[in-house]
Amino acid sequence: MGKINKKHNFGGDWTQKKLDVLSKYLSAYTTILKKYPIYKIAYIDAFAGTGTIKNRNVDMANSSLFADEIYNDTDAQEYINGSAKISLTVQPQFDKYIFIELEPNKAKSLQDIIENEFNHLKDKIKIENKDSNIVLRDLCNKDWQKHRALVFLDPYAMEAEWDTIQAIAKTKAIDLWILFPLGVSVNRLLMKNRNEIPENWSKALDKLFGTHDWYNEFYETKINISLFSEEEVTSKTATFDRIANFYIKRLKTIFVGVLDEPLYLYNSTNNPLFLLCFAAGNPKGADTAIKIARDIIGKINEPKN
Ligand SMILES: C[S@@+](CC[C@H](N)C(=O)[O-])C[C@H]1O[C@@H](n2cnc3c(N)ncnc32)[C@H](O)[C@@H]1O
Repeated sequence: MGKINKKHNFGGDWTQKKLDVLSKYLSAYTTILKKYPIYKIAYIDAFAGTGTIKNRNVDMANSSLFADEIYNDTDAQEYINGSAKISLTVQPQFDKYIFIELEPNKAKSLQDIIENEFNHLKDKIKIENKDSNIVLRDLCNKDWQKHRALVFLDPYAMEAEWDTIQAIAKTKAIDLWILFPLGVSVNRLLMKNRNEIPENWSKALDKLFGTHDWYNEFYETKINISLFSEEEVTSKTATFDRIANFYIKRLKTIFVGVLDEPLYLYNSTNNPLFLLCFAAGNPKGADTAIKIARDIIGKINEPKN
């Protein structure tokens, strides 16, 4: 048995919610798609991690902008299954599992878990130790006529680029769950004074939204007229809801179906960290896919007794 060197320490209750949504959708997805044997179906986890997560309550509002990770090898009992492991236990199974993970040590830990616990599936599994934006764009360029896939994009922050999302949409064969870094990055990058936004932040926002339109969308310019002068004043109008709506609107420009009610994921102090969004690429399957996604999110949002 290979040793798992490092485990992945990230998240809180919102992590569990996100994984619950994914798990429920995956089961529904394979159950439905298995009725159409003409298609080979794949699960593509483009920010795969190690397969396990230490589920502590990280207050992401105080974390860095582009990444937050802490390794911890202690109390193994607090570990929960991450997205990769969840996907491997879903029934019916996928025909193929593609796990993309940039960090070599994490890709190795995932490899170890697979060898130890899912060896029976090893012929169906591929681990890519590369940048997911590159791997996905390449995959999306293939002939998708007889293939369908569910892609899960679960970055720490701004790593899922718009060009990649666009490539996914173009296949018309992929359903997508994506974690959009609403409060964890975007709202903080949109500084009160837009003239103070550093160029690299501005470029990062362009890459995330696939447009520079955010620059006018989230700011308003007014002319303040006094007795002796006229002054142009620009102020930030972005709210969490406005940012969310803008991203959903962007997704709608490229996907045939987009869930209008994404899941807001909050930290312990009730600040929205991420938005879990869903988009469906296939015109025939989109309505059903959206309905299932909506039902799952509706149930997750129901108050617990
Ligand atoms: C939030 S974690 C994913 C957690 C995982 N979905 C789970 O449930 O266990 C994000 C992961 O993406 C990896 N990552 C960051 N940038 C990446 C990139 N450009 N391509 C592939 N993986 C990346 C990080 O190393 C990290 O393991």
